[in-house]
Amino acid sequence: MSGRIPRQFIDDLLVRVDIVDLIDSRVPLKKTGSNFTARCPFHTEKTPSFSVNRGRQIYHCFGCGASGNAIGFLMEFSHLGFVEAVEDLAAFAGVDVPRELIDGESVQPDKKAVSHIYEVLAGVAGFYAEQLRGNAEGSIAVDYLKARGVSGEVARDFSLGYAPNKWDALVARFDQADLIEAGMLVVRDDGKVYDRFRGRLMFPIRDKRKRVVGFGGRVLDDSLPKYLNSPETVVFSKSKELYGLCELLEKNSKPGRILVVEGYMDVIALAQFGISNAVAALGTATSKAQIDLLFRFTSELVFCFDGDNAGRQAAWKATDAALPCLRDGRQIKIMLLPQGQDPDSLLRAENLSAFMERIDNARVLSDYFFENIVGQLELATVEGRSQLLAAATPLLEKVPAGFFREMMFARLQELSGSRIAVDVVENQARLKAKFNVGKKVIPSPRISLARKVLGLLLQHPHFAGLIEREGVVLDDLSFAGVELLREVLQRIALEKPENSAILLESFRGTSQEKAVKALASLNLDVPEGGEESEFCGALQQLCKQAKEAMLTRLIEKESREGLMIEEKEVLRKLLRDKA
Ligand code: UTP
Ligand code: MN
Repeated sequence: MSGRIPRQFIDDLLVRVDIVDLIDSRVPLKKTGSNFTARCPFHTEKTPSFSVNRGRQIYHCFGCGASGNAIGFLMEFSHLGFVEAVEDLAAFAGVDVPRELIDGESVQPDKKAVSHIYEVLAGVAGFYAEQLRGNAEGSIAVDYLKARGVSGEVARDFSLGYAPNKWDALVARFDQADLIEAGMLVVRDDGKVYDRFRGRLMFPIRDKRKRVVGFGGRVLDDSLPKYLNSPETVVFSKSKELYGLCELLEKNSKPGRILVVEGYMDVIALAQFGISNAVAALGTATSKAQIDLLFRFTSELVFCFDGDNAGRQAAWKATDAALPCLRDGRQIKIMLLPQGQDPDSLLRAENLSAFMERIDNARVLSDYFFENIVGQLELATVEGRSQLLAAATPLLEKVPAGFFREMMFARLQELSGSRIAVDVVENQARLKAKFNVGKKVIPSPRISLARKVLGLLLQHPHFAGLIEREGVVLDDLSFAGVELLREVLQRIALEKPENSAILLESFRGTSQEKAVKALASLNLDVPEGGEESEFCGALQQLCKQAKEAMLTRLIEKESREGLMIEEKEVLRKLLRDKA
């Protein structure tokens, strides 16, 4: 299709796609501190100097200097033109690229900005939370929570809410088109709409970037369906999100292990007992995308399933989905609970320490895998052993190259009695040589104040608001970089970019693009959480320096050749400020 791609669509795409997901799907990333790193795909290197920053949504290589946002990455990595890269990125996000017609009218004119949908969902979550506390009807839900042993504190941590038992509680308060886009209304065939969730306890589902993307809602009695969930929307995909992940990361950004359970109420009950490292899939089988996502934050997953038939099947499905994710250093354990129990009921039936013991005693995936696949096979016969080889080989082929894969194949050969084709020891040595990476510390060069201010501003566009708060007026200051600083501030004021990647995008093709990209990925060595005060400090100091320099210049000029009227005015003002 021809026509221009609307700018809003590109910005939305950069909000919606996580650059870490995108790059990780092409170049496997490892979490190190607050960044994700890998060996740079743009130059040959032995030690990783390529890093991806989730907050800023940009990548940067300290080795070769390559940097940019998600679109830039695709252009470089897949050798694409701009439009092709946007199309690829849209495909990655699972959306179509709209085009503007010549007269500026969009082909999909009603599409709301994605960032707006996030705001609407946050507003709805706030409304539900108010309903839980603020009124008589909500107190039924509070009583229900109390009866199930959920404290106010846990309810608050998970922002639990209550959807009033009305057909139009949301419709009366929010924009109808917004609500439809956010999946909060049911649209009937005759075009009439009504609230999807009514008279339900509400569980907001938040993504790893803390944005509400959807809801689960439970009835307060035994009626059916027990749970309703948000439908798939522009911001919500069931197979990519996990309930409780956001809340978990708020408590601990690098948990030693993550427990994967089946239900919303299991996550809540575990939190109630002080186990805050649990997440739940959203009523579907655990997907590879979810497992990969979890391995970003931890190296050990413990899958927790009901011990009944359905639970066993789910455990095997999860094992199958997990095989391609099992790179060295990652570990999965399987924990089957007694029949008919879930973590919530078991914790209350037994106690915390009994449950913790169960976690510690969970089976490692390799044992679970072979036990299951051997099952009823007669390994004493050639037939049984060949069946084992036939069943296990295609599954183990999914495991990525590494020690774990070699060991699994070695075990298979042992069990099936087939000749060990690979010398495991030799293979290990080869792998070690291949994967071992040393450490290199890159010293950060000294950074001028102006670069620090510009860098921090580009990395955190919302810092622009601090400039006025700090009482800093840039208008009559002059220092190296002031032009660029003004330009950046102008763009931020005009476009209100949600993140660094979007701000960067607005500089594409301009003469400042290169400088801006370099500054946006500048390593400023600011401790996490200290960025704002660092910015204000650097800004104040920069102003002071610039004023001092101007003062010196004006005084010199006055004694040399005298000053113009405006210059005298500036000098007077500077001297007054100094006093
Ligand atoms: P469970 O029935 O085990 O839910 O379903 P639970 O969390 O333990 O809830 P309680 O203890 O009965 O209150 C597991 C998950 O399956 C999905 C939900 O995600 C639920 O948490 N589910 C279940 C639905 O989506 N719809 C349903 O009707 C039931
Ligand atoms: Mn339950």
